[in-house]
Amino acid sequence: MSDPAQFPGASSCDTFESVLNSRYSCRAFRPEPLERALIERILSLAQRTPSWCNAQPWQVAITSGAGTERLREGFLEGAGGARRSDLPFPETYVGVYKERRRACGLQLYESVGVGGDRQASAKQSLENYRLFGAPHLAVVTTDRSLGVYGVLDCGAYVTTFLLAARSLGVAAIAQAALVSQSDFLRRALRLQDDRVLVCGISFGLEEETHPANAFRTPREEIANVVQWMDA
Ligand SMILES: Cc1cc2nc3c(=O)[nH]c(=O)nc-3n(C[C@H](O)[C@H](O)[C@H](O)COP(=O)(O)O)c2cc1C
Repeated sequence: MSDPAQFPGASSCDTFESVLNSRYSCRAFRPEPLERALIERILSLAQRTPSWCNAQPWQVAITSGAGTERLREGFLEGAGGARRSDLPFPETYVGVYKERRRACGLQLYESVGVGGDRQASAKQSLENYRLFGAPHLAVVTTDRSLGVYGVLDCGAYVTTFLLAARSLGVAAIAQAALVSQSDFLRRALRLQDDRVLVCGISFGLEEETHPANAFRTPREEIANVVQWMDA
């Protein structure tokens, strides 16, 4: 078998792997804001995301200070209300998707010690709308005219943003929960009709010892996701 250390670019792959392996969805942040220059660095790295025809359909609103607090309060106020997202959420999760969804929920609830307690798990879910205490939020939108491929490009953008942040020591979490309050968010960001809400990303410095940050999610074996076609 080939030695991975001998592959071309092996050392930059080591760096990439360490960023990939150390990234996780942070669910407890420290309140200190990040320097604007650091946020700009993450944003300029994320701009390198590839997109179909180089359309670069993403637009991003970044909140800090009072801007973050205004959204946090609005989300918490709307938490008990009706949900409506620009992009419909899956109606059900079946089979292996149901299992994986359940497993990652359990990991979180066991980690924070609310397994089986419905009230406590509802309180933990509410943390989404508190932005897990993050000092900053990025809200990613796509252009309506680009349809599903615009959404795909924005998904890639979200991943680059998360990895760029991690590479700079910044913790983050993608949050679809936030775009389920689309009426509020569209008003707060003064979005025009041609923009479609894709996802929120809370980010900042991690609260390293918080139990919500103490677990890591597994990944499927490549044998179960790859079909080799050699002939
Ligand atoms: C598009 C997207 C939306 C997500 N929405 C939420 C969310 O609303 N709330 C949440 O707690 N986690 C959310 N997550 C985080 C996933 O649960 C997490 O990425 C997954 O369980 C894998 O764990 P890891 O990120 O720690 O590797 C989201 C992730 C993605 C990519």
